[in-house]
Amino acid sequence: MDKELEGAEVAEAQIAVHWKEEEYYYPSAKFIAQANAADPAILERFREENFPECFREYADLLTWDQYWHTTLDTSNAPFWKWFVGGKLNASYNCVDRHLAKNRNKAAFIWVPEPESEETQTITYQELYARVNEFAALLQDFCQVKSGDRITFHMPMVPDLPVAMLACARLGVIHSEVFGGFSGAACGDRIVDSGSHILITMDAYYRNGELIDHKVKADQAIERAAENGVKIDKVLVWQRYPGKYSSPTPMVEGRDYFVEDLLPEYRGRRVAPVSMPAEAPLFLMYTSGTTARPKGCQHSTGGYLSYVAGTSKYYLDIHPEDTYWCLADIGWITGHSYIVYGPLVLGTTSVMYEGVPTYPDAGRAWRIAERLGVNIFHTAPTTIRMLRKAGPDEPQKYGYHFKLMTTVGEPIEPEVWRWYYHVVGKGEAAIIDTWWQTENGGFLGSTLPALQPMKPGSCGPGVLGIYPVIYDEEGKMVEAGSGRAGNICIRNPWPGIFETVWGQPERYVQTYYAKYCKNKNSKDWHDWPYFAGDGATQAADGYFRILGRVDDVINVAGHRLGTKELESAALTVEEVAEAAAVPVMDELRGRAVEMYVALKPNYAASSEVSEKVRTAVETLIGKIARPKNVWIVPDMPKTRSGKIMRRVIAGISNFTDVGDTSTLANPEIVEAIRQRVQKEKVARGDLPRELSKQELEEIRRFGRAE
Ligand code: WTA
Repeated sequence: MDKELEGAEVAEAQIAVHWKEEEYYYPSAKFIAQANAADPAILERFREENFPECFREYADLLTWDQYWHTTLDTSNAPFWKWFVGGKLNASYNCVDRHLAKNRNKAAFIWVPEPESEETQTITYQELYARVNEFAALLQDFCQVKSGDRITFHMPMVPDLPVAMLACARLGVIHSEVFGGFSGAACGDRIVDSGSHILITMDAYYRNGELIDHKVKADQAIERAAENGVKIDKVLVWQRYPGKYSSPTPMVEGRDYFVEDLLPEYRGRRVAPVSMPAEAPLFLMYTSGTTARPKGCQHSTGGYLSYVAGTSKYYLDIHPEDTYWCLADIGWITGHSYIVYGPLVLGTTSVMYEGVPTYPDAGRAWRIAERLGVNIFHTAPTTIRMLRKAGPDEPQKYGYHFKLMTTVGEPIEPEVWRWYYHVVGKGEAAIIDTWWQTENGGFLGSTLPALQPMKPGSCGPGVLGIYPVIYDEEGKMVEAGSGRAGNICIRNPWPGIFETVWGQPERYVQTYYAKYCKNKNSKDWHDWPYFAGDGATQAADGYFRILGRVDDVINVAGHRLGTKELESAALTVEEVAEAAAVPVMDELRGRAVEMYVALKPNYAASSEVSEKVRTAVETLIGKIARPKNVWIVPDMPKTRSGKIMRRVIAGISNFTDVGDTSTLANPEIVEAIRQRVQKEKVARGDLPRELSKQELEEIRRFGRAE
């Protein structure tokens, strides 16, 4: 064992002593009495000896055109196939099948950000009409067919789910890029997916401002063209139908207003295309260890079954509930738990355009009260933000939640308790759902009526998910040992992505190679899924997630790859080397700090720092803008030349940098530390005292690259 790992062993033993266990919280009798999963028999049904057939129960929530013959096909492991032989259409399952009984039930209640604008209610019947008309437009005007990809760069407006479902109706693969991402980031994703159609919007509201969004389409197209992919048509929705709200000109023969085209398709109906269960439904790009984003390919039958089942049992959605998920549809949470899961169940969902604290700290609670929301779904970043803006605000409003969700980042127990007592008024059960873009749906959570909550822990594996923690050598880390390791899932499940679009070798390498027991095996037991998160497991089986171990920084619940950030910094002429690290941030969980070394003959200056910030913002997006840019003489490196981001992260966070004696240039560490920390102290930019969990996260950062 090398010196570095020996150091790690000592630290892990120490954690075992200091790790504090939180108290359980129990759901109310009222919640339990109405819960979809209140009978413990469900836990029996999903025990490992019933795998994979247990997932029939999820698939049976759907309407199949043709029932499947094989629940799980592992013949091409680890490229899993679920419900083989089955055929279905996702748009039919989300829309058409609800018409008979619920045609005039609201599917979405859309709340524009300006409070003076009316909410818009879209019934299932209206959704049906819009999806069909838009599908007809795609088919006739854009000439797309099943298997083609279309890129969306859309904000939080109902036209986004309409467009997604129209694609699904035709078997066209949609690839929505988060609206807050830059045009360049969108362009890269167009190239990777090989789409020739871009669907976007002229403008949308964010924090009181009507932002020009169309301009990003032009940037995206230019970037794509530079990389050899031509966009033929751009469909532009209008924030105010009939009125163009962007100063950016339309390009003739390329850009079209959807509102101008639609009248021709008024009243058109398009038969849903019956798709094989394993046909791709959509791509969702996420960050990983290299700069090239990963297009996670999700299936139709497996994915839809999984989001339906988890929406029913974990979100506890009933037909009479009003559900509000604040995530952006541009992320996987929005795909799974605003669009597909809730719609399959025929839910009424609130969809909000803007910032939850706009124009004031009471906005979210006014929406919840006015619309009668009783299931509330958000992320720790938003909870922290709402708390900071108005810690006493929720009690002024008369809403009542039965269930609340937290997702996307670890939640600090103190923040959890505010969420429980103040937002939930002590009445709502909380589920802390741990999962990832790659997973389709929840992996770790408590079943809200059957398993008590524990602040800061997501809980055990969800139904049909059997997690395990392995150390670097592949030895199991026992529950209750207090030691941390890499959380893995031993089995495949219907929501797991099928592959990384165009990079199957990367799919195997990143997620399955690390702990694979036999590369030729067709037995799923030999292929544990490596999640890329550090975790510990308490004696009660509950997992506590420590964050990424693979050089991904989770900013406000958004995954940013260090390599992507660094490539952006490297576009600045003066920059020779760059390293991005996470720094603890009171509101956003983590923020990005960038360290750069300059080329010879360039001098450090605040202009260079600003250029780096701007480059990151224009190439990736505002969320990625570094909090600090430190210009340093050199980076700490291993003898093989690898930048030790973990050491730099230790400096930025004022934590122990660990053993640096194995570095090629150990002396640089102290020089950088002195400078950076001195300046931080001078600015009053000191971290609060870090929890064991946070210390452990920094210590593990980038370890499993
Ligand atoms: C982190 C979001 C702690 C984790 C659905 C994971 C969490 C990454 C939790 C995936 C949670 C997500 N507790 N950490 N409840 N949920 N994470 O792909 O590091 O945007 O790997 O998917 O967020 O982020 P992604």
